[in-house]
Amino acid sequence: MKNQLEAIFNEAQADIEKAACSNDIEEIKLKYLSRKGELNSIKKNLKDLSDEEKRVVGAFANEITQKLDASIKEKFDAIYREELDEQLQKEKIDITLAGKFTPIGKVHPITSTTNEIVAIFQSLGFSLVKSENSPEVETEYFNFDMLNFAQDHPAKDMQDTFYTKLAPNVILRSQTSNSQIREMETTKPPLRVIAPGRVYRCEAVNARKNNFFHQIEGLYVDKDITFADLKGVLNEFIRLYFGSSRVTRFRSSFFPFTEPSAEVDVQCIMCGGAGCRTCSNTGWLEILGAGMVDINVLKNVGIDSDVYTGFAFGMGVERLSMLKYAIDDIRLFFNNDERFLKQF
Ligand code: PHE
Repeated sequence: MKNQLEAIFNEAQADIEKAACSNDIEEIKLKYLSRKGELNSIKKNLKDLSDEEKRVVGAFANEITQKLDASIKEKFDAIYREELDEQLQKEKIDITLAGKFTPIGKVHPITSTTNEIVAIFQSLGFSLVKSENSPEVETEYFNFDMLNFAQDHPAKDMQDTFYTKLAPNVILRSQTSNSQIREMETTKPPLRVIAPGRVYRCEAVNARKNNFFHQIEGLYVDKDITFADLKGVLNEFIRLYFGSSRVTRFRSSFFPFTEPSAEVDVQCIMCGGAGCRTCSNTGWLEILGAGMVDINVLKNVGIDSDVYTGFAFGMGVERLSMLKYAIDDIRLFFNNDERFLKQF
């Protein structure tokens, strides 16, 4: 039996010698040292020997097992290191090569200003209107008629409003106020919503006017809503948007769909009210239009004006962005000149 063991030992040593890769080593390990390996199958026969033989042969079997185990480990380490070196050589990367440039986009200033304003009104309890209640392609009915515009109102003129060829009364909306009607028609009060979106007007384009721009509409209808609520909400908005020290002014004005109506001014953020080019020497900047929802409008949408009152407001996003960031030409927003857009 000892001879047998010796033969196996020598065979195994020869195999280890020949092994060329780590897979070969794994196979050798399986062949000789595993539970079903050759050494074990011989060790099983130890029980047939006398006690004395058992002691001697058993010790010898253990000795060669340990030796084989050690030389397998040694060979494996050597081969593994070689293989790793080879792999590292092959996969060498040149860290001095220039990296690939990945340009990082930015949010357009109109979008970031809109997001900022929307977030302020959300913090005051307003939520966004459903997008289907604020379409850009609209009928005269929602853009004008339901908002209490007289049939011959000049804003309906071909010069002021873009008419489409889709149907005689289909236009590009001239204001986001269409969303007021659609919202009130589909949702029972109380409602407290804002509607940001694009509007279109047939204007001669210059530094202050473009033939499309963006507005944010607000509407609050509930029991006991008064002009004091309107002032409170808009003053708070201006405080949060422009900073705490701004003085505001509510001037009486006219819109067909609000009564009474107001134009809201903020003390010029450039000169602090002393008078400068930005405020045309008046000391004031007009920020938005607002007013109490006209009783006729509530009637049009079937809301009982004896029970409910409300206020609405609308502001230009470009104007608010231009004032905050001292941008002097509205066309900069739409030229897509990276030198401008990168600054935000
Ligand atoms: N829609 C008006 C405009 O475009 C602004 C406005 C909105 C005024 C809501 C009052 C109430 O000029």
